[in-house]
Amino acid sequence: MPIVSATEKNINKAAAIIREGGIAAFPTETVYGLGANAFDAKAVKKIFKAKGRPQDNPVIVHIVDKRDLSLVAASIPPVAKKLIAKFWPGPLTLILPRNKNVPSIVSAGLDTVAVRMPAHQIARALIKKAGVPVAAPSANKSGRPSPTDAHHVTRDFGKTLFILDGGRTKIGLESTVVDCTVSPPVILRHGGVTFEELRHVVPTVRILKKGDVNAPAKSPGMKYRHYAPKAPLVIAEGSGAAMRKNIAQLIRSSKGKRVGILATEESLPYYMALGDRRIITLALGSRNNMRACARRLFAVLRKFDTLNVDLIITESFPEKGIGAAMMERLRRASAPPDSHY
Ligand code: TXA
Ligand code: MG
Repeated sequence: MPIVSATEKNINKAAAIIREGGIAAFPTETVYGLGANAFDAKAVKKIFKAKGRPQDNPVIVHIVDKRDLSLVAASIPPVAKKLIAKFWPGPLTLILPRNKNVPSIVSAGLDTVAVRMPAHQIARALIKKAGVPVAAPSANKSGRPSPTDAHHVTRDFGKTLFILDGGRTKIGLESTVVDCTVSPPVILRHGGVTFEELRHVVPTVRILKKGDVNAPAKSPGMKYRHYAPKAPLVIAEGSGAAMRKNIAQLIRSSKGKRVGILATEESLPYYMALGDRRIITLALGSRNNMRACARRLFAVLRKFDTLNVDLIITESFPEKGIGAAMMERLRRASAPPDSHY
């Protein structure tokens, strides 16, 4: 089964697959998801198997109506209610106490459950039609960059998977994950809703620090290398001229290698002027529009795979707004392959 256009008929087909215990891929406003009936442990197991996902990394449950939240969460803390009122439907995932109806495999044995209500019309139609909450991680093989168009999904899974085509996703990075079971609430993963936006609604919200004792237990996904293209990735730290100088230095010390530079439009003339034929530069967009850069990040990382570069050097970005989510992905992608981040 190939990529199919998201007609009503095909949405119904995908919904039937999910209802009957199978898996299917679909677009959301963040990235494509690989969905299964969240109440069916056997079906959810298929997702883990297809992705090669470690059993201790829980998945997000997607709902279409706020009234369905009580089917999957045991209770809803006041702070979660505030966030839901402001950001749902949208790119925000909340960690809540788990309703025991949700099989333990969904949450990798935790007492909590991650819930999100997507805004994307195809995702919403699919969940509604399936008639069950849909457990869905990003539709990539474990460790790879998340898919932002249907072809990325095929590249990871081949043509046996049923994939609803919704074109390129709008945000291009995953949802923000906020743990609402602790006080004050904690951002476990940066994403489509920024820290600044969250703080506006819940001023006490804080960011999980890498050194927090409970960090991996709180967010099991964070201990794995993730979002990684095939070639090793190095981040050129700093900003402006100093950062570009770092890049020039990194290029010089990579003798004989084909080097991909992940850049922004503003610095293209600079890399061109280096006159080095080993380098291939791809720009995300302008630094004046970080949302547009974020939207293309995973697609450009995947593009470097097809260009067979030996090394990718990336510019860094200010860690504010959506830039925080971009840098989090790049740091995770730059961790050594066998490392636990
Ligand atoms: O935008 C998104 O969130 C996309 C689309 C498809 O909705 N989904 C997505 O799923 O990114 P996934 O599986 O790639 O990432 C889920 C993240 C992981 O970091 C996981 O560890 C965390 O959410 N997570 C899930 N359940 C959790 C829980 N009960 N406690 C803490 N973290 C949890
Ligand atoms: Mg993922």
